[in-house]
Amino acid sequence: MTDTSTSHDDAMAVPATLGEAMRGSGIAEVLAQLDRELVGLAPVKSRIRDIAALLLVDKLRAQKGLSGGTPSLHMSFTGNPGTGKTTVALRMAEILHKLGYSRKGHLVAVTRDDLVGQYIGHTAPKTKEILKKAMGGVLFIDEAYYLYRPENERDYGQEAIEILLQVMENNRDDLVVILAGYKNRMDTFFQSNPGMSSRIAHHIDFPDYSTTELSQIAQLMLGQMQYKFDEGAKRAFDEYLTLRITQPHFANARSVRNALDRIRLRHASRLLGQSEARADEAALTTITEADIRASRVFAPIASGQSKE
Ligand SMILES: Nc1ncnc2c1ncn2[C@@H]1O[C@H](COP(=O)(O)OP(=O)(O)OP(=O)(O)O)[C@@H](O)[C@H]1O
Ligand SMILES: [Mg+2]
Repeated sequence: MTDTSTSHDDAMAVPATLGEAMRGSGIAEVLAQLDRELVGLAPVKSRIRDIAALLLVDKLRAQKGLSGGTPSLHMSFTGNPGTGKTTVALRMAEILHKLGYSRKGHLVAVTRDDLVGQYIGHTAPKTKEILKKAMGGVLFIDEAYYLYRPENERDYGQEAIEILLQVMENNRDDLVVILAGYKNRMDTFFQSNPGMSSRIAHHIDFPDYSTTELSQIAQLMLGQMQYKFDEGAKRAFDEYLTLRITQPHFANARSVRNALDRIRLRHASRLLGQSEARADEAALTTITEADIRASRVFAPIASGQSKE
């Protein structure tokens, strides 16, 4: 990780205009990069822009001796699998650091098992250890509702929740907690844990992607992997998406990534099957229609298995 905080602080020292302050903070580039590298997610991006604006103005106010108190930044990210929650949380950690809100800018991603022990007395030290690691950055708790198991009266998850609540209140100038998971389960979790709900300042919902967005995500990922679709492949992949989206275990952008991984496998075996063909750059980078149509998603429904 490169630490650029010194130069930011210098530039932030005497900003004459808001534009200057914005440029000095480096935040404009991070937001532009977020726009470039993440397809869609308009409501998410606009919330992040608002939060960035608040933090920047807060910093400028502090320089003039105006204090509104440290804004609470704990968040919940709700949405279906593969909608970009983890990716955006990583970006958020970076933004908070760029704006001087967090000391380190790192993200510690955990689930219930990292926080909750199996035996009496094990939970508090486990949770505290994780909190220690996350201080100065972001603690991302995936599928946070598993911390709460109402069916088990003596569940140790409750102990973890109580420690979290305390730290979220007392250390909010040094730790941002992001709870992530499915929307409906998270809603139920917040209903049963009003203390947690009231400490979350920003509830951000991640919508499912449209097929057009998924197609754009595929193009973006392909570019990053230095592959490309030819015209036939592009059409076939759009058809693939239309079918795949209706099938079980569909997981938005994650399914796109998985599909591309399998397409790469088929592309490679096709090339090896044509041993006399040229191994030029075009052949090594171009995905063709056949590489996509061989997917089981195109096969007539025969078994009850999930198809990718
Ligand atoms: N809007 C997007 N544009 C481009 N790539 C995306 C976008 N959203 C997600 N991705 C990519 O899709 C993959 C899955 O995203 P991510 O892990 O952030 O989703 P998630 O919501 O955390 O999923 P899960 O609930 O399964 O943990 C990652 O490789 C990520 O880079
Ligand atoms: Mg995730």
